[in-house]
This record gives sequence, structure tokens and C-alpha cells, in this order.
Amino acid sequence: MKTTLNAGIIGLGSISRVHLAALKDMPQARIAAVCDIDPNKLSAAKEATGADAYSDWKELLRRDDIDIVHVLTPHYLHAPMSIAALKAGRHVLTEKPMASEINDALEMIRVSDTAKGTLNVIFQNRYNASTVELKRLIDSGETGRLIGARAMICWHRTAPYYTQSPWRGRWDTEGGGALINQSIHTLDLLSYLGGPIRRVKGHISTDLLADAIEVEDNAHAVFEYESGATGVIYATNNYAADAPIVLEMVFENAAYQLWAEKLFKVEDGVPRLVARGEDAKELGEKSYWGASHKIQIGKVYDSILSGRRFEIDGRSAFGALALVKGIYESSSTGNWAVLPRP
Ligand SMILES: NC(=O)c1ccc[n+]([C@@H]2O[C@H](COP(=O)([O-])OP(=O)(O)OC[C@H]3O[C@@H](n4cnc5c(N)ncnc54)[C@H](O)[C@@H]3O)[C@@H](O)[C@H]2O)c1
Repeated sequence: MKTTLNAGIIGLGSISRVHLAALKDMPQARIAAVCDIDPNKLSAAKEATGADAYSDWKELLRRDDIDIVHVLTPHYLHAPMSIAALKAGRHVLTEKPMASEINDALEMIRVSDTAKGTLNVIFQNRYNASTVELKRLIDSGETGRLIGARAMICWHRTAPYYTQSPWRGRWDTEGGGALINQSIHTLDLLSYLGGPIRRVKGHISTDLLADAIEVEDNAHAVFEYESGATGVIYATNNYAADAPIVLEMVFENAAYQLWAEKLFKVEDGVPRLVARGEDAKELGEKSYWGASHKIQIGKVYDSILSGRRFEIDGRSAFGALALVKGIYESSSTGNWAVLPRP
């Protein structure tokens, strides 16, 4: 039985550091090939990993010893690169969002349904110890029925963040702004923990960063789960700091808050610590990315090696993208948007 997967990494920007560091520590992974159109990033990664270097991702896909392709490129490239890799018989691990457009995401799911390889999507915050504990409490029935949820994502992004990677800040390459890039992790947790979302009504605007970007830097929305529970979202990239995300869920029997990767039970308005995740800062990552990439990447590799499907496949990742795009649609029509199902 195979015990190691050969990895090909496409896209050697900011997030590649986290993937490469995780893979280096994993006995079940070998970094076989790296790819970027930027020659400086490519030669630095080649030197750091000893892997073969490619400036053309299609050439990397032609290598038949690559088992899994990590897609770490701008959002609009996730779909074409993932689809080509699946068609070439490879497993895929793509960064969030799975695609920049709904139709592209649907095509990825369609192709993955008959592919030899699997489609896996990064949503590392599902593996924070605090999220794992809240999910356990919900699944055990201890919390009772969900009544409502709120998510507050107040982060800090400035013009240089967008000029440094020009694909950011544009509808055709990023597919959106604060919602599709920064808040999508939390929107994923809303449905991962609370169940499928039926419809959303929301509003987006481009405010403090209006001179730098065309996508939204502010958004708010109200949404309805299929269960009848409701929720609210507030997302901004205009805050003065990267504040801890707050995700609160009010159930029949108790209220819980995920706050800075800690889980609190709220009783009579007083939060009491129930579980805490690893401190991402101690791991040298940007703390707002969380610390769980390594956990998720390890689980993806173990699933593939043991022939099991990994839980965050295209269908599982689709809901967060559908919620983002539903808010954009609702903001433009002024009406509720009913979310599509894959
Ligand atoms: N999960 C998380 O917490 C997290 C955090 C940061 C970024 N991300 C995601 O990771 C992805 C990449 O983001 P980033 O911040 O690293 O961006 P980045 O701009 O720093 O890096 C993207 C890289 O892709 C390369 N690239 C562009 N076109 C290419 C092509 N045709 N072939 C090969 N390489 C190409 C660029 O040269 C660049 O090096 C995005 O989807 C982003 O949303 C996820």
C-alpha cells in the first residue's frame, strides 16, 4: 500500500509558506514539484524544498508521478487549475474559496464526481479545537435546537495589501472582497455548525478603500437556515486592527461564542471558557489565519492514502461560496436571494 503522496504546489505566494511548512513535517508527504510564474518566488521555493520547478502549471500536471496538486493561486484560477488536475487523474487540494464564481464551482463538483482523484478544499478553521468542541456539543444534542447565530468579522486591510497582489480587489480575479476572501471562513462555519442556509438578504459597499479596490470592503446581511433559525453577519476590512472573529450561536439550551479560537459558554450574559485552540502566533503564522492548516492537510493526505473521502469536498465547501454570492446578488437586486444547491 502507498504510504507517501507526491505533492505539486501551484502558487508560491503568502499562503504557500503555510502549506510548505506543513508538508515538510509530514512523513506521508513529499514535495515533488513547485510552480509559479514569478521567477524569484520559484527559485526561492526550489532552493528551500529541493523540488523540481515549473513556470507553467500545465507542464507540472503532465508529470505522472504527482499524486496531489495544491492550488494556491488567485481565486479565478482555482477552477481551471483544479478541473485540469482532476481530469489528469490527480487529487486536488485547493485554497478557499473553491472558485470565484458559482458556475465554476458547480463544474468542479461535476468533474470531481467522476474523476479518479478527489477534490478537497481548505477551510482550516473547522479543525480549531474550539470548533471541534462546539460541533461535538451540537451533534450530541446537548445544545438543543439552534435559534440564531451572529458572525462579526472586523479586519484591517489597506491599499498596499491590494497593490502587492493586484488580483485582489477586482471582481474578475478575486470574485469579491471582504466576504469572499476574509469572511468566507466564518461563513463556512455558520453552515458547518448550523446546517444548510436557505436564503439571505444583504448589502455590500466599498467605503474606506474606494480609491484602491472595486470590490466590497463592508457587508452586512440577515439569513435564514432551512431549519427556520436566523442569523446576522457583519464583515468589514475597514477596522483599525485584525480583531478576533466572533461567532455566537444561541441554542435552546445554551448560548456559545467562538472568540479568538476559544469556545465560551454564555450563561446569564457571562462567558465561561470551555475549550481553546492552539495560539497561532506561537506557530509563526499570521494569527488571523488560525493554526489548523497543518491539521487539515494531514487529514486530507491520510484520507487519500486510506481510500476514504475527506469531509470538505466540493459539495461541503459550496455552501460558503453560495452564501457570499447570495449576499452580492441580494445587494444588487434589493431582494432575498435563495441559495443554490450543488
Ligand atoms: N486559508 C487561509 O487562511 C488563507 C490565507 C491567505 C490566503 N489564502 C488563499 O490562498 C490563495 C492565494 O493567496 P495568497 O495570499 O497566497 O496570494 P499571493 O498573491 O500572495 O500568491 C499567489 C501566487 O500565485 C502565483 N500565480 C498567479 N498566477 C499563476 C499561474 N498562472 N501559475 C502559477 N502561479 C501563479 C502568483 O505569482 C503568486 O505568487 C487565495 O485563494 C487566498 O484566498 C488562504
